Amino acid sequence: MPALPPTPSTQSRIVLVNRPKAAISPDISSGKGTFLLEKSAPVDKELGKGECLIRTEWVSLDPAMRGWLNATRSYIAPVEINAVMRAGGVGRLVALATDAETTALAQKKGLQVGDWVSTLTGWQEYAKVGLKEVQKIQVSDKISPSYYLGALGMPGQTAYWGLTDVCDIKSGETVVVTGAAGAVGSVACQIAKIKGCRVIAVAGGADKCRWLKEELGVDAALDYKSKDFKKEFRETVGYFDAMFDNVGGEILDFALTRMKKFARIALCGAISAYNDPAPRGLQAYLNLISQCAKIQGFIVFDYAKRYKEADAELASFVNSGQLKIREHRLTGIENCVEGLLGLFEGVNTGKIVVKIGSGETKL
Ligand SMILES: NC(=O)c1ccc[n+]([C@@H]2O[C@H](COP(=O)([O-])OP(=O)(O)OC[C@H]3O[C@@H](n4cnc5c(N)ncnc54)[C@H](OP(=O)(O)O)[C@@H]3O)[C@@H](O)[C@H]2O)c1
Repeated sequence: MPALPPTPSTQSRIVLVNRPKAAISPDISSGKGTFLLEKSAPVDKELGKGECLIRTEWVSLDPAMRGWLNATRSYIAPVEINAVMRAGGVGRLVALATDAETTALAQKKGLQVGDWVSTLTGWQEYAKVGLKEVQKIQVSDKISPSYYLGALGMPGQTAYWGLTDVCDIKSGETVVVTGAAGAVGSVACQIAKIKGCRVIAVAGGADKCRWLKEELGVDAALDYKSKDFKKEFRETVGYFDAMFDNVGGEILDFALTRMKKFARIALCGAISAYNDPAPRGLQAYLNLISQCAKIQGFIVFDYAKRYKEADAELASFVNSGQLKIREHRLTGIENCVEGLLGLFEGVNTGKIVVKIGSGETKL
């Protein structure tokens, strides 16, 4: 592992300055947009009890970030104005507080300075965080640290629990996955295939559909932007047993008319509605009664106590090559906001990540 460079006294970071009413503003320099890029912010090296300093190497961009900007009741507190934008990140442990409790916790976690770790770093080059919130990650020639922001991290856990617990999928069932070419969706498609299901992927555009079919091996991939989408859905899916939904809106509403009796729908996300200040409600919900079907929202963090179960299975799928990983990589903290906006336009195939640090990228 390359030696860590000396920690500078200033860093670049992105802070939230204005809450958006609809879409996020791409302006990161005037202070009038949603975010502001600060190029010479101080690095806080004073570590209190239980704290550590991380040098960020990769950060995650997630659709959920849009929700974290709204000052409304949710599963997590909104990001405060003038605070660094919250984000999952991976990087290297630079320093640990020296009190006995922190030293003992570091030993328990098998952590020492220089190790690769995963935590909520935020969009900044150096993050001071509680050691309790830091997980050690195993990086190798085959496993890039950034994979822990995707299939081996929160999106992988989301796909796993949404399918195995909320949808309770069984071998032989027909499973529909929307947002199928993204971070969560592409893992969900592959887990459902591994578990013996017939998988119909729904994604935007011919290239994404081709990748899902030819590389990930789904049974069929449907382009929701095609004018024949509903017809193709009826003909290809017939009626489904389970649906893992990432997009909500019109696609979900239509899918409510294509449920088998006792179908289960996991409401993972609704990206089609995140920028809409007044999203339209579902019209076809009466089918839930006639088909005795279930629709259930879930938040991955509620499975935290069971992450280890999924970790083991996901790592074995990745190591055996059964689960393929694709990333859409951007470089430079200044591209975080543009990349986040890109999620709403479908720029990514696979997990979108941003390289922040100057550390080597082997994979
Ligand atoms: N419940 C939880 O705990 C949890 C955890 C993680 C993520 N999520 C949710 O899971 C979903 C997927 O997250 P992700 O990180 O994997 O993102 P992602 O799928 O990698 O990226 C978002 C994708 O959404 C699609 N999209 C954008 N606007 C759309 C629209 N109007 N209609 C249909 N599709 C649209 C785009 O693909 P196309 O080109 O195919 O349109 C885009 O690539 C999000 O809704 C997210 O909020 C939930």
